[in-house]
Amino acid sequence: MAQRTFSIIKPDAVRKGYTGAILAEIEKAGFKLAAIKKQAISNDQAKGFYHVHAERPFFKDLCTFMSTGPLFLMVLEKENAIADLRKLMGATNPANAEEGTIRKKFAGSIQENAIHGSDAEDTAAFEIGYWFAGYELI
Ligand code: CMP
Repeated sequence: MAQRTFSIIKPDAVRKGYTGAILAEIEKAGFKLAAIKKQAISNDQAKGFYHVHAERPFFKDLCTFMSTGPLFLMVLEKENAIADLRKLMGATNPANAEEGTIRKKFAGSIQENAIHGSDAEDTAAFEIGYWFAGYELI
């Protein structure tokens, strides 16, 4: 059965003009775009989204970075979507990402790492609900 995951094309990748190339990788891997919207988010919205990282040393910089420019919020659908997207993205730090992964191709640093993907079913449910209303999910 199809599973949904949440993803962001982050401001660094949007700025560099990689949005279309990243979407092509995602579609080529068999994901359906259940929803997508371009948005500039506030620092407070970023803090709420990344609340699980609130105690981490990189939290403040991460939230600042996420509000530096527009990004694309997405809900992606396929069988095994959560694990498959994590695999397609590659390691958080692009220096450790495998060849062929989105972060290997498009990410610049551990923070400005081009894409986000939910890491589990409960986080996917929280993250989808944080950014999308039910009527936006077709
Ligand atoms: P993401 O998958 O969106 O989840 C948390 C984000 O924090 C991560 O991608 C990076 O953008 C950012 N980040 C910055 N520094 C670190 C770090 N040292 N370890 C993990 N994530 C980091």
